[in-house]
Amino acid sequence: MQQLDWKNLPFGYIKTDYNVRCTFKDGNWGKLEVSDSEYISVHIAASGLHYGQEAFEGMKAYRGKDNKIRLFRWEENAKRLRHSAEGVLMEPVPTEIFREAILKVVKLNEKFVPPYGTGASLYIRPLLFGSGPEVGVRPAKEYMFVVFASPVGPYFKEGFNPVKIAIIRDSDRAAPLGTGTFKVGGNYAASLRGTIKAHKAGYSSPMYLDTKEKKYIDEIGAANFFGIKNNTYITPKSDSILASITNMSIIQLAEDLGLKVERRAVAVDELESFEEVGACGTAAIISPIGEINDLEMGKTYKFCKDGKPGSVSKKLYDTLVGIQYGEVEDKYGWTTFVD
Ligand code: PLP
Ligand code: COI
Repeated sequence: MQQLDWKNLPFGYIKTDYNVRCTFKDGNWGKLEVSDSEYISVHIAASGLHYGQEAFEGMKAYRGKDNKIRLFRWEENAKRLRHSAEGVLMEPVPTEIFREAILKVVKLNEKFVPPYGTGASLYIRPLLFGSGPEVGVRPAKEYMFVVFASPVGPYFKEGFNPVKIAIIRDSDRAAPLGTGTFKVGGNYAASLRGTIKAHKAGYSSPMYLDTKEKKYIDEIGAANFFGIKNNTYITPKSDSILASITNMSIIQLAEDLGLKVERRAVAVDELESFEEVGACGTAAIISPIGEINDLEMGKTYKFCKDGKPGSVSKKLYDTLVGIQYGEVEDKYGWTTFVD
């Protein structure tokens, strides 16, 4: 195994030893197969390739101080993959196959789960796509479910330090009644223009607004948005964003801290009034936001004026990460040991 610099891992692909695959054919899911190849053989007419009949998940395995490996709320990822599958008319993956696949991938690649204290984790990527041949626009009859893993560092190079975000107004990631609530590849392809535009302008990520009126905050690239003011945790309610499992967890933790929680439309103008704002997701964890620039409108919103994350974001981060690494009591039973 190559020597990995655990503390400086990028959020990227690093080859591990094994992945698992399973196919749905003739109305049944087959056996889970383990492979040491990074490649799959795909039919040239697979609906996943032509018509984007595809969905994926993102989750992490964390190595604790006790050296034990924990998964975080994997059942929610299994549930969301089913929701995404139904959204683009794919065969949903049964929870038991999902569970067996992710546990197997982590176990077989145990040596790639980064050591405790490095800030890194093993990213798990389940993916499902139409593998059967179709030329007409219709759902495939065969599906392939693959799970691979890669050790990763922070999604934003800043780690738990304020990031800069750019509001994108000249492209959208998802339509109001489109596929925004599904974790399908097409949304990410659609977000590439905005993402690259933001990066080129020196920002870590784009912020997308509601596509109808461009008045309300939708989400931040591959993470949900939250803002804090007057002892209240506020996060957008929208029909075109992904229901983040991290956000759902932070909402609970915020309530435990005595904060009120509001899930509602959040106007861009309201940014002025927030004491703290941040992005949250499996990859982004909790990333405090230091600046949001509305490029087209020529307006900049600044936060973290002392250059440090706000105190509520810090408390939420410490509790969430503490649970994931086994240092804070897991009173909701969110973690699962891999043994
Ligand atoms: N929003 C989008 C578009 C995402 O891709 C992700 C990542 O999965 C999230 C939000 C955060 O969701 P979660 O916390 O479940 O990872
Ligand atoms: C995640 O947070 O797991 C994601 O899926 C983000 C990813 C698109 C990089």
